[in-house]
Amino acid sequence: MTTLLSRSAILLPLLLLFAAFNLSSCDSFIGVNYGVIADNLPPPSATAKLLQSTAIEKVRLYGTDPAIVKALAHTDIGIVIGTANSDIPSLASEPGAAKSWIDSNVIPFYPASKIILITVGNEVLTFGDQNLQNQLLPAMQNLQDALNSASLGGKIKVSTVHAMAVLGQSEPPSSGSFKPELTTNLKGLLEFNDANASPFAINPYPYFAYTSDPRPDTLAFCLFQPNSGRVDSNTKIKYMNMFDAQVDSVRSALNSMGFKNVEIVVAETGWPYKGDTNEVGASIENAKAYNGNLIAHLRSMSGTPLMPGKPVDTYLFALYDEDLKPGTTSERSFGLFKPDLTMTYDIGLSSQNSTKSVSVQSPTSAPTAAPTTTTTPSQGFVWCVPKAGLTDAQLQGNLNYACGHGIDCGPIKAGGACFQPDTLEAHAAYAMNLYYQTAGRDPKNCDFSNTATLTSTAPSYNNCFLNTSNANVNDPRVNNSSHVSMSGVGPTRHLIDTFEWLFFIGLVYL
Ligand SMILES: *[C@@H]1O[C@H](CO)[C@@H](O)[C@H](O)[C@H]1NC(C)=O
Ligand SMILES: *[C@@H]1O[C@H](CO)[C@@H](O)[C@H](O)[C@H]1NC(C)=O
Ligand SMILES: *[C@@H]1O[C@H](CO)[C@@H](O)[C@H](O)[C@H]1NC(C)=O
Ligand SMILES: *[C@@H]1O[C@H](CO)[C@@H](O)[C@H](O)[C@H]1NC(C)=O
Repeated sequence: MTTLLSRSAILLPLLLLFAAFNLSSCDSFIGVNYGVIADNLPPPSATAKLLQSTAIEKVRLYGTDPAIVKALAHTDIGIVIGTANSDIPSLASEPGAAKSWIDSNVIPFYPASKIILITVGNEVLTFGDQNLQNQLLPAMQNLQDALNSASLGGKIKVSTVHAMAVLGQSEPPSSGSFKPELTTNLKGLLEFNDANASPFAINPYPYFAYTSDPRPDTLAFCLFQPNSGRVDSNTKIKYMNMFDAQVDSVRSALNSMGFKNVEIVVAETGWPYKGDTNEVGASIENAKAYNGNLIAHLRSMSGTPLMPGKPVDTYLFALYDEDLKPGTTSERSFGLFKPDLTMTYDIGLSSQNSTKSVSVQSPTSAPTAAPTTTTTPSQGFVWCVPKAGLTDAQLQGNLNYACGHGIDCGPIKAGGACFQPDTLEAHAAYAMNLYYQTAGRDPKNCDFSNTATLTSTAPSYNNCFLNTSNANVNDPRVNNSSHVSMSGVGPTRHLIDTFEWLFFIGLVYL
């Protein structure tokens, strides 16, 4: 958290401003896994339409189903295709097999279908087959060579996907390291990733961490809910959620092998909404909390403590339930959408939600087509504040949670512009409100385990809660920001809303 707190006050608004352009309808870092071990899935064309109505920008297929790859043509959705583990031996031993794999699975579809990555096998290093492990790198190399000779090297990357079980140690995150028996193979694979600028793809599942440690505070930690956090004793970084802790343990493991530049991609993560009676934690509420809060966390652009400021590319597991999968009920219950294309539960993936996550959603503002000024704050502004009578522990928990989720708490640190009054309540109110405003002004972002409430009266602790009913005429800071009013950009109403909102964030910071 130290890194989050020390971030420049100016950087975040700029970052959000930048993000607003990228997020106008999609979030480039949000992907989804499209598994097809099922007999009730909608046709690929319907799925392509569904995806286009969401903020999902990338899809990972486990295979190369041409009907799906074709259906995604001209959608601008990035596509990850994969070779089966059973393809690896021939791909490794015969360059010709790799060439014909590319010739049949890539060339006919690219670039209309935006294939971005080929994953060679799935979780091979933890599959328990030493021969296959040894063949993985040669298979990847042959596919890379085949891409290069088709002049697609660099345009389409080659990698493989690992289970978290490649780590021998993951706690605390700074001590993350790979299993010693895998490091020989991993070194070769990582040199490949490094040389070809391809990502290290891995499948962290806080859900599985929870099932092996089902304490209430572990659940809150896994679901990005208010919790007391876990301090990494080496770095003194306080982790507020399991996802960041897991991803940073991978970062540490990569760094310790000298691969600081190899990027991490989360190839799978998710939470089942249903399970057998003995499957603790598998419920709609938890699945919605995990996936919804994960999306909000990624959109906050906070990154992880070891990789601040940049959300890790994340493929949610999964688009649909796979009803033919063997095993426990939870294995068949990860789907975000039902076969009839409706949401299993709403986590804000609709493309309408993604702009709103950084824009003003004002319930009472008139939908003016061409506002004359972009600095006029909306009517009906609401603030998120702590409920009366909270304990210090509750206030501190909320403060920690909010400050651990991508907002800049520098202004409430000693010497900061909003430090006075130096009370826990005022500091918590500042952080909670900023979290609510930043995370998308959805009432669910002002819940804090039922310890927060929305109010239409500006909190009176200090002037860090702008009184928007008069800010635009009396507050010089508003006038000072108007140089970024984007005149000339010709923004749509949507964009103007976004910038209005960005001004607000900017004002709070500046
Ligand atoms: C997403 O947007 C829709 C339509 O505006 C809204 O009904 C829904 O509540 C939003 N969902 C989330 C999670 O924000
Ligand atoms: C906000 O400004 C209005 C108009 O100046 C004033 O009447 C009101 O008391 C202010 N509210 C707060 C909470 O400062
Ligand atoms: C801010 O700009 C408005 C409109 O241009 C003006 O009426 C107001 O006096 C300005 N406020 C300050 C503090 O300069
Ligand atoms: C607003 O701009 C004026 C003139 O550039 C400057 O003197 C003043 O300090 C600024 N106020 C704030 C709050 O940034």
